[in-house]
Amino acid sequence: MNLAVFASGNGSNFEAIVKKIKKGEIKINSVVLVCDQPGAFVIKRALKHNIRVILVSRRDFKNRDDFETAITERLKNYRINLIALAGFMRVLSPAFVKKFKDRIINIHPSLLPAFKGACAIKDAYDSRCSSTGVTVHFVDKEVDHGPVILQKEVKIDRADSLASLEKKIHLLEHKLYPQALKLFIEGKIRFKKGRVCFINF
Ligand code: GRF
Repeated sequence: MNLAVFASGNGSNFEAIVKKIKKGEIKINSVVLVCDQPGAFVIKRALKHNIRVILVSRRDFKNRDDFETAITERLKNYRINLIALAGFMRVLSPAFVKKFKDRIINIHPSLLPAFKGACAIKDAYDSRCSSTGVTVHFVDKEVDHGPVILQKEVKIDRADSLASLEKKIHLLEHKLYPQALKLFIEGKIRFKKGRVCFINF
């Protein structure tokens, strides 16, 4: 299995995944980073771990199709058969998603379908609900949508600030995402009627 992690920013999830691969806990032949932001901190993390970086800046292309074609072409060189979105701040087209059908996984910092969108943690915090969480799911043509692989709740305590809630969520993400990727890579995930089911889990 050859993995491409797509990320645009900080890259803490990217690094959590890479650490598990390096420890041999996730069996991957090769991993590359795809990044659309030249100044992103995730690039520094990749270089620190000697991970190859594919930098494809959206500004260099006149439209999304050309941008995605460039990504697809670059991915061919690495025979990529699994994509993990980890804070990739671009919506992928239905055509791109179809090309990698059931092979694109995303992490979202809420219990989907609650709090979709780019400000999920803040939206949950502002809503004064008592819990939120983390979802790892397959990507389909809708944003923040698709069959759920793993989902776990995070309590919002009265004493929580937005920063403390963010911290709790990110800590959980760093466990849940590698765990979900491992299940996929070990062939323990099957689809039944559009839902994910597990084999020997
Ligand atoms: C995470 O909260 C993830 O759930 C969301 O984007 C954030 C990325 O954080 N999709 P990082 O760049 O991995 O630190």
